[in-house]
Amino acid sequence: MILGNKSIKISLCYNSLVFFSFFSRSMIPILGRQLATMSDKYTENIPRIPGEVQRLNEQFEIFTKNIGYILHPSVVSALPSAPCIADIGTGTGILLVRLRETYPNAVLDGFDISADLYPPPDSLPSNVTLAVRDLKQPFPEELHGRYDVVHLRLLITAMLRDDWEPAVCNVSALLKPGGYLQWEECDFTTCKHLRGGVSSSVETARFMSNSFAYALRDRFAYGWNTLPEHMTTAGLTSIFTDIVSSDRVPSTRERLSVITMSLVFRWARMMIEKKAPGSISSKELDDKEKESYDDIKSGCYIRYDIYVTCGKKPS
Ligand SMILES: C[S@@+](CC[C@H](N)C(=O)[O-])C[C@H]1O[C@@H](n2cnc3c(N)ncnc32)[C@H](O)[C@@H]1O
Repeated sequence: MILGNKSIKISLCYNSLVFFSFFSRSMIPILGRQLATMSDKYTENIPRIPGEVQRLNEQFEIFTKNIGYILHPSVVSALPSAPCIADIGTGTGILLVRLRETYPNAVLDGFDISADLYPPPDSLPSNVTLAVRDLKQPFPEELHGRYDVVHLRLLITAMLRDDWEPAVCNVSALLKPGGYLQWEECDFTTCKHLRGGVSSSVETARFMSNSFAYALRDRFAYGWNTLPEHMTTAGLTSIFTDIVSSDRVPSTRERLSVITMSLVFRWARMMIEKKAPGSISSKELDDKEKESYDDIKSGCYIRYDIYVTCGKKPS
């Protein structure tokens, strides 16, 4: 696979898209240290390397700024002053730490299939607890009916088409009667790299992002658009979706573009390490990375839609 500099030809793009797609589906999952029995689909495409903590935390802040809230106002208005809140697929636990600023007396529980990105337990506020759980498996009965809110954000890269419905049932079981499920996912299928200036360059950033989106197209096709139907199946009511642009706040465009490209290059490096046939060299990928960041410096930015879907467990 030979990639040109700024003027990448369509045929070459197609070949590399096919290559990345084939490779990502044929990889063997890398299992985290606590995952003897869990299938961690997430690490087929995204490595849990130390820089991920910083990337996820910055991404969380930028997303929250663009969404405009952590919990939807309808969810907030239904909460007691000391709510029980669970964040599933919590990553670094940042959402719970932020919620504690508003709800200092809340019970704030985070669950993730891996503890690799968790902060040390003694650095967490006393009412924030993090544990290891797979949302694709039913949660233990002692957790059922315990939470006023169950929240999830950006699980899409870990989810295959048939994972969504059972996962929504599993996490809905954690809700108290009258409690809310709030789940945020993005439509990366229509993700665009746009030019912010008249002479901005966009080609390399666009090409690399398109390669990533094409490789993960089977995962990116669901969730953001199917959550309302899964929530209905799980018995939730009052279901609604709030849709917001990832660049609603224009000052976030550059940093969101940088951290998204850093994810794309982590994925591409992972593919190269697995020696996919026809793969470009690490040096060529380094050049592509530099060109992508040059595109962003010239004014290129990423844009997609963020979907916030909420549903209520009947009282
Ligand atoms: C993109 S990160 C998002 C983290 C966090 N929600 C945020 O917005 O910063 C996705 C997280 O989901 C976790 N995850 C993936 N598959 C999971 C599963 N089956 N059960 C629980 N967590 C899972 C990953 O380990 C990762 O921490």
